[in-house]
Amino acid sequence: MTPYFSYQQDQLCVDDLPLVDIAQRYGTPCYVYSHAALTAAYREFAEAFKSREHLICYAVKANPSLAILNLFARLGAGFDIVSGGELQRVLAAGGAANKVVFSGVGKSAAEMKLALEAEILCFNVESAAELERLNEVAGSLGRVAPISLRVNPNVDAKTHPYISTGLKKNKFGVAYDEARALYRRAAALPNIRVTGMDCHIGSQLTEVSPFVAAAEKVLALADQLAEDGIVLEHLDLGGGLGICYNDETPPSIAEYAQALLAALAGRSERLIFEPGRRLVGNAGVLLTTIEYLKQGEEKSFALVDAAMNDLMRPALYDAYHAIQPVVSRSDVATAIYEVVGPVCETGDFIGHDRELAVAAGDVLAVMSAGAYGMSMSSNYNTRPRAAEVLVREGEAHLIRERETVRSLYANERVV
Ligand code: LLP
Repeated sequence: MTPYFSYQQDQLCVDDLPLVDIAQRYGTPCYVYSHAALTAAYREFAEAFKSREHLICYAVKANPSLAILNLFARLGAGFDIVSGGELQRVLAAGGAANKVVFSGVGKSAAEMKLALEAEILCFNVESAAELERLNEVAGSLGRVAPISLRVNPNVDAKTHPYISTGLKKNKFGVAYDEARALYRRAAALPNIRVTGMDCHIGSQLTEVSPFVAAAEKVLALADQLAEDGIVLEHLDLGGGLGICYNDETPPSIAEYAQALLAALAGRSERLIFEPGRRLVGNAGVLLTTIEYLKQGEEKSFALVDAAMNDLMRPALYDAYHAIQPVVSRSDVATAIYEVVGPVCETGDFIGHDRELAVAAGDVLAVMSAGAYGMSMSSNYNTRPRAAEVLVREGEAHLIRERETVRSLYANERVV
């Protein structure tokens, strides 16, 4: 899974720090991230593409914590954003606006204005209507918007249908066959400057072939554009590289890079990537305490203090996350548990049929929870969101306080 969270004797540790100590100090549920793991993942990506001019635009949605954005900004990263809110976060965390690409199918005029005023690197435009609106908004500000079209290459990413984005039936991007004409229109608009092409075909991909197929279609279209006199400065190949949660065997970053670099041999455009999960997924865990063990009629339950509001992936995608006790013990019998939260929904589970030797009060680590964990959390059941801790060189830093219940209704009014 990851060498950054491993047992030392019976203690699951990050750096040399036992996770049980972090749970005691900050309470649970609590997300814990490894600075070393985040840094190593970013460096591995940068290293793999170092032979080419490139920019790694971390997909903020995977984990938008200011401390994590700041860490990546210091390493030289750019950012892929999908809202004005994410742009403000990036800027608050010390990210550079001129390394920001703005993706998303539904950008509002207000978000466009914000991004134009910040002078971001590129808008990844996803429709003809968006292109016209961007031209208008830019015109009203006396600015010129740099754009890519996000083309939909109609490639099967072979991943979960909810996170597959590159098929004709998906809402994302401009249809491949219509992109050339839309590029011509873009080139003719006074407040638009065409700078690149973008594609992103889905998330948690565990094979390289769909990436290569998408890149080849992007290149073919770029060549057609050159015939029309439209020369691109960059190619943005999106994110999507998967990680191992259980028994998946995703390509290494080096394999992914090699395959893409081979497909791109002889091209001079700057490359942009938008990885999210691969940079943060395996760098974080969610700590949760067992409140009760309960023997049901058919199943045994470990009722934990984290729930679907803290980690939505199991409920939403039936996603698998490994679950490990932070202190392994041999004084209790092993049993098969449904690991479930306190939320009033049958879909509120963290893991099915897990073999664990545990007692009430024990702390569990839900592994590989660094991506789309905290970022998709909610306050369902009026549950304050978890604390977040970043461990750097063996020292734990609270990077987000646990929410208070009072703050949850602070903006509400009774009539
Ligand atoms: N670029 C764009 C335009 C995207 O839509 C995404 C993710 C990324 C980059 C980053 O993809 P990554 O490298 O992280 O695969 N909530 C789901 C994942 C949704 C991904 C949405 N878009 C999950 O928990 O699995």
